[in-house]
Amino acid sequence: TVPDTAAQSLVERLRDVATHGMVPAKIFNDPAVYDLEVERLFSKAWNFLAHESEVPKAGDYVVRSIANNSILVARDEAGEIQVHLNMCRHRGNQMCKADLGNASHFRCSYHGWVYKNSGELVAVPYHKQAFGDELDKKQWGLVPVKTAMYEGLIFGSLDPDVEPLEDFLGGFQFYLDYYLKTGAEGVEVYGPPDIWESRCDWKLYAENGSGDGYHTPVTHQFGFHLGYFASSGATHSIGHSVHFPDKGHGIGLGETPGMDPFLGYPPEIIDVLKERLTPEQLAVFEPVRTAVGMAFPNLSFLSQPFSPIPGEPGIRFVTMRQVRALSAGTMQMSSWCLVPKGASEEYREAAYSAYTLAFGPGGMFEQDDMENWNNITQQLKGSVVREMDFPYVSGLKQEPVSDYPGPGVALRPYMNDSNFRNLWSTWAKYLTDKE
Ligand code: FES
Ligand code: FE
Repeated sequence: TVPDTAAQSLVERLRDVATHGMVPAKIFNDPAVYDLEVERLFSKAWNFLAHESEVPKAGDYVVRSIANNSILVARDEAGEIQVHLNMCRHRGNQMCKADLGNASHFRCSYHGWVYKNSGELVAVPYHKQAFGDELDKKQWGLVPVKTAMYEGLIFGSLDPDVEPLEDFLGGFQFYLDYYLKTGAEGVEVYGPPDIWESRCDWKLYAENGSGDGYHTPVTHQFGFHLGYFASSGATHSIGHSVHFPDKGHGIGLGETPGMDPFLGYPPEIIDVLKERLTPEQLAVFEPVRTAVGMAFPNLSFLSQPFSPIPGEPGIRFVTMRQVRALSAGTMQMSSWCLVPKGASEEYREAAYSAYTLAFGPGGMFEQDDMENWNNITQQLKGSVVREMDFPYVSGLKQEPVSDYPGPGVALRPYMNDSNFRNLWSTWAKYLTDKE
C-alpha cells in the first residue's frame, strides 16, 4: 500500500474542486500520483477490457491490461469468456505474447507449462522428475480476474470486493446505449484497434473524452471553416453536458437546431434505435449532433457525422477508446470503430472510412488533439508551471437544467467545466479514500 505522501495531500484538495474550481498542475506527470492511480484507482475500479465481438469464436483471445498488469481475455472451448492474469504461475513469465489470435492452449516460453484457454494448468514438462508429487496442477491454474459485461463490453476488476458493475456505471448505461444499441443484436468492432502511445498524461485525454466541446471551434477550426461539421461557430455551444456525481462519468451532447434526427445514420439504423431506445433516450439523442462521453476511468466514445466532402451531411460513425496510463505523463490509446451488427457493407465501410479519416491515429482531428495534449503534458513539467493552479470555473455557479429528460446532472449549454470537476473529484476520492 502507498504511504501518506505529499502527493496525497495535493490530491486531497481536489475532492472539493466543485467548490473552489482549481486544478493544480502538479497532479500531472507526477510519479507519486501515478503510483496512487495504479494502486487506488485502476486496481480498484472496473476497467474496460474488450468488446465481445473481438473474441467471437472459441479460442479467440486478445491481450489487454489493467494498470501495469497484462490480462488475457479469451473465449474458451465452451464459448465462455475467460479473463485471467496473463502470467505463468511457475515464475511469472508473460504467457501469451501476441496481441490477439486463436489458441486452445497457451504454452509458457520458459519451462513449458501448458494452460487451457479456460485457465487450467494441464501439462508440466518433466512433472515426475522435477516435482514428484509435490505439485498439484489443480492449484496452479492462471489467476482469474473478476469480470462483468454490459451490452457486449467486457470489464475486469482486480478488486474482489468491487461494487457490482451495474452500480459502478450508476445510470450511465442510459448514454452507453446510444453507442451500443444501433443494431438489433448490438454492435461489433470493425477490425482490431488502432493502438498508439503518446507523451500525454492520460488524464488530459480523460478530460477531453468527458465532453470538451469548448476546444472544438479552435483546435479543429478548419473543420468549421471548410464545412466538415454539421454546426457553425454560432451554434456550436448548444446542447448539454451531463455528469454522474461520485461516479466520474460524463458526456457532452452537442446539438444543432433544425438538424435531421440522428443525422448521418441510414434509415435502417434509425429504425433500430427507435425500437431499442426508451422514449427518454430518444428525446435526449434525436437532436444530438456530437456525443462524446467517458465511462470513468478508461473508456470513452464519440459519435458524430463526418463527410470527406465538406458541406455534405456525411455518415455517422462511432469510435470507442480505451486509455491506459503507461507511466507518469505517458499513455497508450486503443481506438476502434464500432458498427451495428448486420449493417450493410456499404454503411460499414463508409463509417470506417469516416472514422479513420477523422479520428484514426493519423486522422485530421485526432492529430489536432494529440498535438495539444502532448504540448500541455510537456509544458506542465516546467519548474514554474508545476506550482500553478488552473481555473475549472466554467459553470461553477450554474444550476442544473430542471426539464432535462435523461439521468445525471445536466447543464446547458454544452460548454462548461462541470463534467471535468466531477471527473477530478471522483478521481481524488479514489486516490485518497482510506479503507
Ligand atoms: Fe512459465 Fe517456468 S515460468 S514454465
Ligand atoms: Fe478534439
